[in-house]
Amino acid sequence: MNEQKLIDTAKTLVASDKGLLAIDESSPTCNKRFAKLEIPQTEECRRTYRELLITTPGLGEFISGVILYDETIRQQKKDGTPFMQVITDAGIIPGIKVDIGAKDMAGHPGETITEGLDGLRDRLQEYAQMGARFAKWRAVITIGADIPSQGCIEANAQTLARYAALCQEAGLVPIVEPEVLMAGAHTLEQCGEVTAKVLQTVFQQLYTQRVLLEGIILKPNMVLPGLTCPQQASVEEVADATVQCLLRSVPAAVPGIAFLSGGQSAELASARLNAINLRFKARSPWALTFSFARAIQQPALELWQGKESNVLAAQQVLLHRAECNGAARQGKYTEAMEWTKV
Ligand code: 13P
Repeated sequence: MNEQKLIDTAKTLVASDKGLLAIDESSPTCNKRFAKLEIPQTEECRRTYRELLITTPGLGEFISGVILYDETIRQQKKDGTPFMQVITDAGIIPGIKVDIGAKDMAGHPGETITEGLDGLRDRLQEYAQMGARFAKWRAVITIGADIPSQGCIEANAQTLARYAALCQEAGLVPIVEPEVLMAGAHTLEQCGEVTAKVLQTVFQQLYTQRVLLEGIILKPNMVLPGLTCPQQASVEEVADATVQCLLRSVPAAVPGIAFLSGGQSAELASARLNAINLRFKARSPWALTFSFARAIQQPALELWQGKESNVLAAQQVLLHRAECNGAARQGKYTEAMEWTKV
């Protein structure tokens, strides 16, 4: 295992106040988002949309890495240029989602286990040969009556750790993503307790599976009250609860924490990331950055609507969101940035 290569890649991904853009929706998930906007759900439309995203001029100024999906990593621009070349030419590191989805977990009603370990060693080798330098695996934890269970947390944590070990063997930096969902009526405190328990179990397993902590990136949820909790929280309360939970759970050896957006609005995700950095950047042991899908893409997707004539406007909106999140990494995002958008 080339430890230095892993460490260098992980550091580069979280350096220079940049963050990650996730465009790794599976085809069914991408189709669902297209369907809501009445965009045709075809492979060509998905290709056209991903071309729009990765050819956005200036994207590399705010984005260090892009997470692709198996279909997308093999695609080309309309003019035949491979997507992988477009991305690397923009100074952006390409990565790949390698889990095959969260499936109902036997004996655990309402809970899921993420699959994809079978054959993973061979798939990782192929992706590495194609030029991918990091990977992603998402485990999903739901808060509800009597859940999450110990069985679900442990199984997902061990699976994440085995994935991470295989990635490092293949020379890819694993993004370790245990997502505690926002859906539910739980409080901010309950989310903090569950997230801490999940992260502590994940790091125990990463340690047991001999994963090099300096060569991973953690992709957690922010600590948030459930969507239907009557008591919502200020951005400052979210920042404090999130960082307190992370400080209690994540070893300082980890170079970076890149939050997922999880269905928050684009503006809220930026405001919360900003508060996190404004209050804690100076004394945080890790870079605190973003790895958003919806919170960067959604406004651009809504503007595009599948129409060629909207491509430039959609790219401007995408770049604006990337810029807002770049500013949020520095604690310099303001609401006024939203008024200047195109
Ligand atoms: P969201 O930012 O839309 O939650 O997506 C992040 C991601 O990569 C999910 O795995």
